[in-house]
Amino acid sequence: MKRITINEAKNYVGEEVEIGAWVANKRSSGKIAFLQLRDGTAFFQGIVVKSEVGDDVFQLAKGLNQETSIMVKGTIQEDSRSKFGYEIVVSGVEVIGESHDYPITPKEHGTEFLMDHRHLWLRSSKQHAIMQIRNELIRATYEFFNKEGFMKIDPPILTASAAEDTTELFHTEYFDEEAYLSQSGQLYMEAAAMAFGKVFSFGPTFRAEKSKTRRHLIEFWMIEPEMAFMDQDQSLEVQEQYVAYLVQSVLDNCDYALNVLERDKELLKKYTELPFPRISYDDAVKLLNENGFDDVKWGDDFGSPHETFIASSFDKPVFILNYPKAIKPFYMKPHPDRDDVVLCADMIAPEGYGEIIGGSEREVDFDNLSAAIKKFGLTEEDYAWYLDLRKYGTVPHSGFGLGLERAVTWISGTEHIRESIPFPRLLNRIYP
Ligand code: 4AD
Ligand code: MG
Repeated sequence: MKRITINEAKNYVGEEVEIGAWVANKRSSGKIAFLQLRDGTAFFQGIVVKSEVGDDVFQLAKGLNQETSIMVKGTIQEDSRSKFGYEIVVSGVEVIGESHDYPITPKEHGTEFLMDHRHLWLRSSKQHAIMQIRNELIRATYEFFNKEGFMKIDPPILTASAAEDTTELFHTEYFDEEAYLSQSGQLYMEAAAMAFGKVFSFGPTFRAEKSKTRRHLIEFWMIEPEMAFMDQDQSLEVQEQYVAYLVQSVLDNCDYALNVLERDKELLKKYTELPFPRISYDDAVKLLNENGFDDVKWGDDFGSPHETFIASSFDKPVFILNYPKAIKPFYMKPHPDRDDVVLCADMIAPEGYGEIIGGSEREVDFDNLSAAIKKFGLTEEDYAWYLDLRKYGTVPHSGFGLGLERAVTWISGTEHIRESIPFPRLLNRIYP
């Protein structure tokens, strides 16, 4: 008998197959039992009819506890009443692993309880749908950058110097030296761009941020493209094409997951239409001030309510351009006509999901960069290798970082970022 997975069921209508699965839920009467089955690929229903399987199999099926693992045999048929469209008419059941008192029952549970049981919570249909969207974004990322001629380069995780804010570093020992967990691969990706032209990385990054919000993780995954011979305006075009590609890929390949999550697909379609709007930081401050946000002055960084308001003035992701130099890292290139702002942009997602991309054109002049490093209180020695890039054939270059979990949270329409990564690391949580 052919062993298949649930997501292959559509190819086996009318055939007898076997499937390894878990019992997600169950209901039964005296004559018929309905098993909600899951196997990691999808969820669907198994029907056990007493008069067809006989009393022994029926009693066994009827007595299965939630999350018992089974090998189920039966015939696939169409099921027009379910979202999935297919079901299995069961002829035999073999128990593989019993399960007793599974803690996550179909009733409602509190967030902390679910977080304590994250290793089991991942089995639920909503979490399954979110992880499918995460997987699709990863797949589409490789596809997009390969198609565009980028090379995947892996920057180190253990580093000797800071790439972003030095207050948010995780310290660790590196034999006799001090080291940090990477906050961003950017500086290494700049070296890679000088070696390979167009490059992108995808890896974990760590920030000891004391932020407890629905947008912050301590450990998150970032995609960081870096492009030689490219200015900021050209980089913005790559960014919007990439994000539109991610959304389109999810629309094309994750229809079932979007249905489970009840995500509005018409809204998502809108996010594939280019270009995305652009607004300067100066105009964003004005917009906020005109709309009752009196607390924001030129020079301040934006908080979530500000980003949410700015985003709500547009129906697509929006770029905020050219932030004040004083609130951005040392490596950004100053605006050619103004020395108080830099050539950078943040992409803010619609619907209140906040910043999903941060990027900039990089300072390429040796003397300016060296001065900026000192001004930020960093030591030139630590960045000697980085300064070398400006000594041997420096070129205009730009890059950006997309936070994978921010993108997953937004595209899947999930309320909190903790559900967009399998095992979230949060302020006060490293279990499980
Ligand atoms: O804006 P950030 O700090 O930019 C950089 O790290 C640059 N070095 C990237 C580059 O130019 N190569 O971070 C980039 C993105 C943010 O826009 C956000 O999506 C995500 O990373 N991010 C976080 N995601 C989850 N939790 C956090 N604590 C995050 N901090 C940043
Ligand atoms: Mg940022």
